Amino acid sequence: MCFEQYVLLLLLLSFLSQLVLNSAQESKQGRNCSNFSCGWFEEVRFPFSNVDNPECGLSFMNCTEPDQPRVQFHENGQWYSVNYIEYSSQTISIHDQNLQNDLKSNRCDSLDSFPEKGSPFLSISVTEETRPFFKCKRDEGHPLPPSEFFKDFSSYSGCKNHDLYFYDDYKKSLPHLPTYMSNSCSVVRLPLAPNDYGNGIHELTTLWDAKFTIRWKVDRDCWHCHSKGGQCLSNQNGGFRCGNLKGLATGLSGIFVTCMVFIFFAYRRHKRNKLAASTGLISRSMSLDSSLKPDPEKGSTYFQTPIFTYKELQSHQHS
Ligand SMILES: *[C@@H]1O[C@H](CO)[C@@H](O)[C@H](O)[C@H]1NC(C)=O
Ligand SMILES: *[C@@H]1O[C@H](CO)[C@@H](O)[C@H](O)[C@H]1NC(C)=O
Ligand SMILES: *[C@@H]1O[C@H](CO)[C@@H](O)[C@H](O)[C@H]1NC(C)=O
Repeated sequence: MCFEQYVLLLLLLSFLSQLVLNSAQESKQGRNCSNFSCGWFEEVRFPFSNVDNPECGLSFMNCTEPDQPRVQFHENGQWYSVNYIEYSSQTISIHDQNLQNDLKSNRCDSLDSFPEKGSPFLSISVTEETRPFFKCKRDEGHPLPPSEFFKDFSSYSGCKNHDLYFYDDYKKSLPHLPTYMSNSCSVVRLPLAPNDYGNGIHELTTLWDAKFTIRWKVDRDCWHCHSKGGQCLSNQNGGFRCGNLKGLATGLSGIFVTCMVFIFFAYRRHKRNKLAASTGLISRSMSLDSSLKPDPEKGSTYFQTPIFTYKELQSHQHS
């Protein structure tokens, strides 16, 4: 085998191995990203991903505890237990354990509406009925004036630092807060407790529930990107970028470079044949085990460029 064939083969082999590696990586990721089981859920898929493969989704699931799969809607967000996931309606039912504990022990301080914050390309919202209420700080020195404002409201005053005001009819929307109350009161929306509080309000769980049904929505651009096998990413300006088609790109550039190498050698061979035909000389090809250095006396080929000794040229001229 001559030197150029050897080089060509080496180049070909390296590019082919690169291609195989790339496609292997892609299919591995494709398989991993397609769907996964999580606790009792047999098939969880996009926009959720296993927390071990965060690049596969927009929200993350921790499946470590088989009897309690948990979800996180954005990085560093709270983890919630998952009750069910329904892809046809794009809803996920979750349970907020911290809220449940607060409701059970009548702690009002941390009661807050569900933070409807998804990842950059995933919006989430609470779908079920809520019972809105005013959460008003009880200030020892300055109790809230027994306001006319709350006269139509029911109230709950079993918390340490707060009073809660709400309508018995949860469908009735809350009026705007007078400005003088805006520092001490805030509006909170929590899911309605499943049962009526006919027997009176003994604890917060008779009014509110810690189970949320969340509807998710994936951005259109991101959805397109995902269905093409890409990964939804943010660019520097916070805009959208479809990434991770890199494996395919390097594969294609590998093919391109291989083609170029082929063309290059084909061209050189063509030129050399033409030269050999026109001069009637056949260049000596170099065998692999001989030295790469052209011998100035003996004459040799250096990368298939014929090098002739003075004598050879002279004899050629004289013939
Ligand atoms: C993803 O693939 C890796 C390596 O092939 C494997 O170890 C891992 O368990 C897979 N993850 C999932 C969620 O299937
Ligand atoms: C889930 O993945 C398995 C194998 O990876 C595949 O056979 C199945 O069709 C997938 N299901 C869905 C709904 O994509
Ligand atoms: C998943 O949950 C387990 C058990 O609660 C915990 O030890 C682990 O750190 C969690 N993994 C991640 C990535 O949050």
